[in-house]
Amino acid sequence: NKRTKIKDLLQLEPASQEVVVMGWVRSFRNNQFIALNDGSTNDTVQVVATLGSFNDDLLKRITTSASLKVTGKIIPSLGKGQKMDLVADTIEILGHSDAEKYPIQLRNKPTLEYLREVAHFRFRTNTFGAVFRVRHALAFAVHKFFNDKGFVYLHTPIITASDAEGAGEMFRVTTLPVDGTAPKDVDGQIDFKEDFFGRSTNLTVSGQLEGELGATALGEIYTFGPTFRAENSNTARHLAEFWMIEPEVAFNDLEDNANLAEEFIHYLIQYVMDNNRNDLEFLAQRLADEEKQLPQDKRSELGLIEKLEFVLNNKFERLTYTEAIDILANSNHNKKKKFQFPITGWGMDLQSEHERYLVEKHFKKPVILTDYPKEIKSFYMRLNDDGKTVAAMDILAPGIGEIVGGSQREERLDVLTERMQQMGVPVDELWWYLDTRRFGTVPHAGFGLGFERMVQFVTGMTNIRDVIPFPRTPKSAEF
Ligand code: 4AD
Ligand code: MG
Repeated sequence: NKRTKIKDLLQLEPASQEVVVMGWVRSFRNNQFIALNDGSTNDTVQVVATLGSFNDDLLKRITTSASLKVTGKIIPSLGKGQKMDLVADTIEILGHSDAEKYPIQLRNKPTLEYLREVAHFRFRTNTFGAVFRVRHALAFAVHKFFNDKGFVYLHTPIITASDAEGAGEMFRVTTLPVDGTAPKDVDGQIDFKEDFFGRSTNLTVSGQLEGELGATALGEIYTFGPTFRAENSNTARHLAEFWMIEPEVAFNDLEDNANLAEEFIHYLIQYVMDNNRNDLEFLAQRLADEEKQLPQDKRSELGLIEKLEFVLNNKFERLTYTEAIDILANSNHNKKKKFQFPITGWGMDLQSEHERYLVEKHFKKPVILTDYPKEIKSFYMRLNDDGKTVAAMDILAPGIGEIVGGSQREERLDVLTERMQQMGVPVDELWWYLDTRRFGTVPHAGFGLGFERMVQFVTGMTNIRDVIPFPRTPKSAEF
């Protein structure tokens, strides 16, 4: 007998059809009503074990999180609150669960912090069920968006010799023996110069540079893979291992790049609105409940779904870094010295408090900031005619801050080489990158969307650790 998933079952009109379902017990009331969940949806089917039809031994073993196989018939429910009852003919316990010891059961309303401690079980809660179904839908939509546009999915390396961001926040890869026989330098320190079979390598911080190799031949590519940053920041928006989507497009300029990014973000939101309504409604309610604990002025003006609708119906605000500095410098917030980092003037790097002021207080919608001072951006960004700024863009989202970073790339060999020298980026090591500028160089542009930050934005989860199945942060890497 084939099993019906509960999500599909609940779509049926109950008329005494025979069905088989399998799942985990969420609750068991009055020795008669079992709420059964199988992960296909947060909804449960109400299984009715008619009184007198099952022996006490079996009933005793129907505990929270026990797994069951149930056969029976679906009929219109007599009770309120559900469409159908599944009247059980047979109940088989597939796996027993000791309710006294089951970690999720031990707490009445387990907090997200507690669930991070029992991370191996958090998939079994409604919140994480919804989050990870939405995460999956977003990942699928990423591929659909680019596939429909004719982009090639390029798999860029995870072990690489280049530091794509020139920021030095890399995890080194090593094949060195751990038994103390590793080569040492003169100071007795392990010689990390010779690590990956004699070469110095690290885990990738971004697939962009390799992506540019693909784009300057295939035209339009995207990457979607894990990236690693050894920044020791314990914030609600940083992970040591996160997933990034990086499209790279030949012949695009900065404006095309911003258009693509905005269309992409809209598409992802629309996809989830169309396909994951149930889970979004659940997450919206969860967020509303969470915000009830906050003081009035810290709560969001819009609910989760209204926020997503608002973003879909409004263009992102576009302005330059220079305009943003003006707004920030003249803001009452700055005059009243409410920024931890006061606005010192043109050239300063924006802190997340400044970005959040712009999106949450000033514009109240996503913002695309462009044309940053060259000193605070990466070497590969195209130098503007003013000689002071580069064709960079960051997209800032309410509640998140920076969600996208990108730019038009410097396609002129002489300008690029000079910038690399100025910024201390090794010109010889990146000979293969510079070759794209030597042989048929073209204007091109791309960006990186932080996948977890996007999942946070869509699900309304406040902490980035709660949108990735197995968070890697300075404190957590247990399994
Ligand atoms: O701004 P970033 O560093 O840009 C790049 O890596 C470029 N090479 C992208 C490109 O042009 N192809 O990172 C891009 C995005 C950020 O906007 C942010 O959303 C996310 O990646 N991100 C992180 N997400 C989680 N944890 C971290 N530690 C992150 N660092 C960056
Ligand atoms: Mg960035």
